[in-house]
Amino acid sequence: MSRQDKPALMQILQHTPEFKPYEVEVAEEVIDGYLQDQQGTGYYALVAEDDSKVAGYVMFGQTPCTIGTWDIYWIAVSEEVRGKGIGKALTKAAEEEIKRMAGRLIIIETSSQELYENTRRFYLSQKYEQVARIPDFYSPGDDLLIMQKRLN
Ligand SMILES: CC(C)(COP(=O)(O)OP(=O)(O)OC[C@H]1O[C@@H](n2cnc3c(N)ncnc32)[C@H](O)[C@@H]1OP(=O)(O)O)[C@@H](O)C(=O)NCCC(=O)NCCS
Repeated sequence: MSRQDKPALMQILQHTPEFKPYEVEVAEEVIDGYLQDQQGTGYYALVAEDDSKVAGYVMFGQTPCTIGTWDIYWIAVSEEVRGKGIGKALTKAAEEEIKRMAGRLIIIETSSQELYENTRRFYLSQKYEQVARIPDFYSPGDDLLIMQKRLN
């Protein structure tokens, strides 16, 4: 990810129905932090292009105080080009990077809301399994779902 990618990424985030405005704000803060000091944040970021246009991104990082556990914090693909394998390619690329850095377990947190049905199906198709649920975590009726994938 480079500075030139940011405007297109913000467009994607702002037009992603799953993300609430305050989530987009947090995503922007994370992107800004990464662009200012890539090493300092401990985040890794990969951007996908489709037809030479920014089509999506993934951000991930090692989970503090663990040995070989990583989190995929954000993934988003432009609504216009969903279903073309871009999310899968981003996830695969992140998994390869994580493996290269001796990662063994990937955790993804997501929401139980109906709006995230596609997202949950996507993770399941990429062989992530739901291992925990915290009821009412995000708000009453909106549970946190924890998904994981072992890399070996
Ligand atoms: C989730 C997301 C990243 C998927 O990206 P995508 O480029 O559309 O997904 P792909 O085209 O790579 O699909 C890959 C696989 O997921 C499956 N999949 C994707 N969308 C699906 C859907 N709506 N229903 C069922 N399966 C789906 C595909 O069938 C495919 O399966 P395969 O690997 O067996 O071929 C994208 O939809 C997105 O940006 N969602 C909004 C943001 C979001 O929710 N982020 C996560 C926050 S926790």
